[in-house]
Amino acid sequence: MKLAHVTLLFLCFYKSFCKDLLDNKCLTEKYTHLSCNKVFCQPWQKCIDGTCVCKLPYQCPKNGSRVCSTNGKSYLTYCQQKSFECLQPRAKFLNNGTCIAEGEFSVSLKYGTTTSEGIVEVKLVDQDKKMFICKKAWSIVEANVACLELGFQQGAFEVQKSFEVPEDLHVNSTECLHVHCRGLETSLAECTFIKKRTKNYQDLAGVVCYTQNTVSSANDSFRCVNGKYIPQKKTCNGVNDCGDQSDELCCKGCRGKSFLCKSGVCIPNKYKCNGELDCITGEDEIGCKEETELLTANMDAERKRIKSLLPKLSCGVKPIRPTRRKRVVGGKPAEIMYVHFHICCLVLIFLTALRGKYFVD
Ligand SMILES: *[C@@H]1O[C@H](CO)[C@@H](O)[C@H](O)[C@H]1NC(C)=O
Ligand SMILES: *[C@@H]1O[C@H](CO)[C@@H](O)[C@H](O)[C@H]1NC(C)=O
Ligand SMILES: *[C@@H]1O[C@H](CO)[C@@H](O)[C@H](O)[C@H]1NC(C)=O
Ligand SMILES: *[C@@H]1O[C@H](CO)[C@@H](O)[C@H](O)[C@H]1NC(C)=O
Repeated sequence: MKLAHVTLLFLCFYKSFCKDLLDNKCLTEKYTHLSCNKVFCQPWQKCIDGTCVCKLPYQCPKNGSRVCSTNGKSYLTYCQQKSFECLQPRAKFLNNGTCIAEGEFSVSLKYGTTTSEGIVEVKLVDQDKKMFICKKAWSIVEANVACLELGFQQGAFEVQKSFEVPEDLHVNSTECLHVHCRGLETSLAECTFIKKRTKNYQDLAGVVCYTQNTVSSANDSFRCVNGKYIPQKKTCNGVNDCGDQSDELCCKGCRGKSFLCKSGVCIPNKYKCNGELDCITGEDEIGCKEETELLTANMDAERKRIKSLLPKLSCGVKPIRPTRRKRVVGGKPAEIMYVHFHICCLVLIFLTALRGKYFVD
């Protein structure tokens, strides 16, 4: 039973055939990030009859610190600014703190063949020149926010495409920006930016925003409530690929590094025990304190430490020869390594055979 489960999960991951993770009856309800039967509303919204609607700015908590909006006005709190934006979508968040003269934030795409794609360039409010985003840590979540900000209502289509950039750019770019978003921001300015120095040339983040021309014709695609099509295998994985979260709200199970709330919502594992309720049923923050109360020695950490001292093994690549190193007391590292190698390959052969037999494309 257990092995069967593991195999099924592995296959789900390996091959995008797990359509039955989705609850079709639930999908007809067309839930999105604004469905408070499924998810919490933002602090600047309130839940009325199952839908998140804008609060009025005065309904926000009074304390907090000032933020500046793209309409040039400063607001007492982030909540007040967002509630104002909720009512007047053109006035977006600009920066934390009071407004700075000539403060400006912008996102643009460069080196693409059309206006809906390219390398992402950002001008931060307190930096005087535009900067590129680092590819590392750039995901569909950030890309959706960027495309939305650029006016593409359905967010991003893909983040993998590479673009040809001028040679001297490789040499000149010694720094790039790491950006992290939660996914429901209306401007990249609301996301967290970290400046990274890059000694060598590092790949820069690019994006293809979703337009009618990018519609994928694949058979196994999922239609988001906002009309965007995404591959079926990206549903119920804890990642808001759709941009409106509709791919994560009707799940019977979750793929990859994600956690199933009792409400049928998949959230990223990293939201578990993060001090913020993410499941409306609350189970992502239950039992967290107890778990961190360590009563015995952590032998798993010790096991990991020992493992890190052993020669590295990667599946499918036969180690050339056991590395010469000091003998580990009570063990023969080289033999252990080969046993693991064989199991690993057997599993792969088994999966490949299964794939050939049942899942011919
Ligand atoms: C908000 O108010 C609470 C209670 O009055 C206080 O504990 C907290 O420090 C305040 N926070 C800020 C950011 O002023
Ligand atoms: C915003 O700025 C204020 C001071 O102006 C600071 O106290 C606060 O921590 C900042 N908030 C964030 C999220 O950085
Ligand atoms: C790279 O630097 C050189 C000299 O410092 C400059 O001439 C060139 O315009 C720069 N290229 C880009 C794309 O910024
Ligand atoms: C969808 O699948 C069917 C049969 O599996 C195939 O005949 C058809 O060409 C596919 N359509 C697309 C757009 O891939």
